[in-house]
Amino acid sequence: TRAVTALSLLGMREAGERISVLTAYDASFAALMDRCGVDVLLVGDSLGNVVQGHGTTLPVTLDDVAYHTACVARGNRHAFLAADMPFGTYSTPQAAFDNAVKLMRAGAQMVKLEGRAWLADTVRFLTERGVPVFAHLGLTPQYVHQLGGFRVQGKTVESAERLKADALALQEAGASLMLLEAIPAALGKEVTGLLAIPTIGIGAGPDCSGQVLVMHDMLGVFPGRKARFVRDFMQGQTSVEGAIRAYIQAVREGSFPGPEHGF
Ligand code: KIV
Ligand code: NA
Repeated sequence: TRAVTALSLLGMREAGERISVLTAYDASFAALMDRCGVDVLLVGDSLGNVVQGHGTTLPVTLDDVAYHTACVARGNRHAFLAADMPFGTYSTPQAAFDNAVKLMRAGAQMVKLEGRAWLADTVRFLTERGVPVFAHLGLTPQYVHQLGGFRVQGKTVESAERLKADALALQEAGASLMLLEAIPAALGKEVTGLLAIPTIGIGAGPDCSGQVLVMHDMLGVFPGRKARFVRDFMQGQTSVEGAIRAYIQAVREGSFPGPEHGF
């Protein structure tokens, strides 16, 4: 198997091959997911929830993500490795670049940032300096207190139009991937049609270029309330490896997510 790159992900989108993404936080799971053929591994700041036990991602630090990125990088061989920039670490382009460098040194090949069109200058600053960017729109969990909870976004005509404009601005600024979280399935489809870069959905319907799940959710080990867009892939499997392979297969063939996982 050849290593996945930002360029090969774009090629997958153009060929209509769906992209499978999973979060990972340690070397052993990263190695297993990589062996199963996952396209992208994301060291998500969801580690604040699933590893550290916090209620939000806000307490996660750059050092936390750098540590877990280094762990994942040691286990990974082929998957493209993305890492989340934590809350408060990219408020200016220069700060974003300095902090992204730390994650790249730890082994990240791309950084993910939450934010709308205001972030375009930062995306341009990073991409011009060799840091590929994964943009994140819709339900952006670092904005939980601004959004008034973990709520589906883009439900009104105005907010849907604004999200489309944001997505175009971030693509224009150089983003390589676009994460769409918790938006109506119809809007996920529309944004995917509008953009040339791949969209990765989580609660954004079946028509995105790829899908992501938090590993603890897809293995049914997260103790909290199960979000609507989650499927427990351990159901019907007898091993963790079987569940990971079932997830990747379901994303590839388009059987996950189903209508029941969408908004
Ligand atoms: O932190 C995370 O795991 C994420 C994914 C859910 C997309 O941002
Ligand atoms: Na995240």
